[in-house]
Amino acid sequence: MWRRRLATSAGALKREVSIKDASQPLSRAVRMVIKATTPVVSRHEIKFGELFYKNLFKNNPETRKFFNEAHLGKGLQQRAFTDAIVRFASFIETPEKFAPTLERISHRHCALGVTPDLYPAFHSNLMKSMYEMFGEAVSPEIGDAWNKSLTFLIERCIRSDEMQYGKMESRKGGWRGEAPFIVSEKEKFGKEAIRFRFVRADGYKDGFEFTPGQYLTIRGENAVPRRHYTITSAPGEPHFDIVTREIKGGEMSGFLKKHLKVGSTVLAAAPCGHFVAKDNFSHVFISAGIGITPIYALMRSLGKDQTSALYHVDTCINKHVLRNEILDLGIHDVNFIYSDTEELNLREDIETLFHRYSIAASYYISAPADFALEVYEILKRAGVNDISVQSFQTGKVDHPDPLKMPPPETLIHVVQPSYAGTD
Ligand SMILES: Cc1cc2nc3c(=O)[nH]c(=O)nc-3n(C[C@H](O)[C@H](O)[C@H](O)COP(=O)(O)OP(=O)(O)OC[C@H]3O[C@@H](n4cnc5c(N)ncnc54)[C@H](O)[C@@H]3O)c2cc1C
Ligand code: HEM
Repeated sequence: MWRRRLATSAGALKREVSIKDASQPLSRAVRMVIKATTPVVSRHEIKFGELFYKNLFKNNPETRKFFNEAHLGKGLQQRAFTDAIVRFASFIETPEKFAPTLERISHRHCALGVTPDLYPAFHSNLMKSMYEMFGEAVSPEIGDAWNKSLTFLIERCIRSDEMQYGKMESRKGGWRGEAPFIVSEKEKFGKEAIRFRFVRADGYKDGFEFTPGQYLTIRGENAVPRRHYTITSAPGEPHFDIVTREIKGGEMSGFLKKHLKVGSTVLAAAPCGHFVAKDNFSHVFISAGIGITPIYALMRSLGKDQTSALYHVDTCINKHVLRNEILDLGIHDVNFIYSDTEELNLREDIETLFHRYSIAASYYISAPADFALEVYEILKRAGVNDISVQSFQTGKVDHPDPLKMPPPETLIHVVQPSYAGTD
């Protein structure tokens, strides 16, 4: 029975998503059902994400090539995806509160070349997974409410992606999709890193507009994996620089090191990314390892007057990339901690920074997820709200229990006659 409903809804969605700005506001009845059932989905977030991606790749294998296998293998994308669905549903009465999440997702989607024709597969596999996971508890009312809400969400995603594609294309030197670039320089950078310089294959030399902190998304010619690399050159320059560190067992970083030579071609998507400077007079930066790349880009663009402090942790001085470039910026409060020679007192050090710069500053963390989360929690506990976090993976690292859902109820329980009917 629900299979028939699903097939119909997927067909309908294909027609609907091609119509721009077609989304209808959701009725009160639909919103009530979503509000009542979201805690259940939230409670099963991890299992639901796993089931969804299992179904997606089985039924629509053409979508798999877009994803990072390491993120899937670690369950990160499954979690990030369901988290976004739950977040959307939790804000069903106040959709404007979902806008920052939507924007963040679009940066990622557009960097990776996601197009509207791929969305119907997400819709049908989401519905399929819902019926599969919750079985008969998904009454016709509940099925219909989620079906309509997902259509609404997907239309918003497509519009948001299109806005992001428009920005990427309209900036000076910008483009849509992937463009060929040539490696013009390749230089060893410290013990384990390499700096690459890319110029456009068509000879364009008028400079590229982007926001410091953003990344390029790169793929080898005829290769599948695409990865993001922070741009370390300044806006306006006629080339893009990136600094890469080899990751053990890593597909792309290994390829860049071994196979990419001066004169080689790569395909790149235009700059994307939301880890950019806030509008403030004081900025405090905390980073670890290769996470220094966006921090360097931000500090250079803000200059020494607005950069209050940097706190950077690395395993040893030889592995610390961009060290000299950072020292050249002339920032007053720079702290480098090398864990091979010093004991790390993260809590104490971050609290000291906080006492120096208080809640008036904007704080930025760019580091592996566990380090980033630890720093984030120390700052949160100190009372800081203005914190931007980036970890070189998918999804957010700053809300292990984001929505503080009320205790879950059963799906059967929530279908009450008062939810029926429309506004
Ligand atoms: C916004 C952003 C900006 C970034 N900027 C930079 C930058 O400036 N410089 C930089 O060097 N990097 C940067 N990165 C990281 C970069 O995009 C790559 O993730 C990194 O280079 C590793 O890619 P890889 O293909 O070599 O490794 P992957 O092949 O993705 O593997 C990563 C790790 O996961 C393991 N793994 C692979 N498959 C699985 C699996 N199925 N299950 C479990 N584990 C698995 C691998 O063994 C390896 O240890 C950035 C990432 C993001 C998201
Ligand atoms: C209901 C619609 C969708 C939602 C809610 C959604 C949500 C998300 C979220 C939350 C992320 C993580 C963003 C981040 O790191 O900040 C993400 C990443 C991603 N999404 Fe989507 N997405 C949707 C549809 C799609 C579609 C149609 C595709 C097409 C294949 C797609 C492909 C990807 C890819 C490839 C990534 C990066 C994964 C990685 O790095 O491992 N998404 N999405």
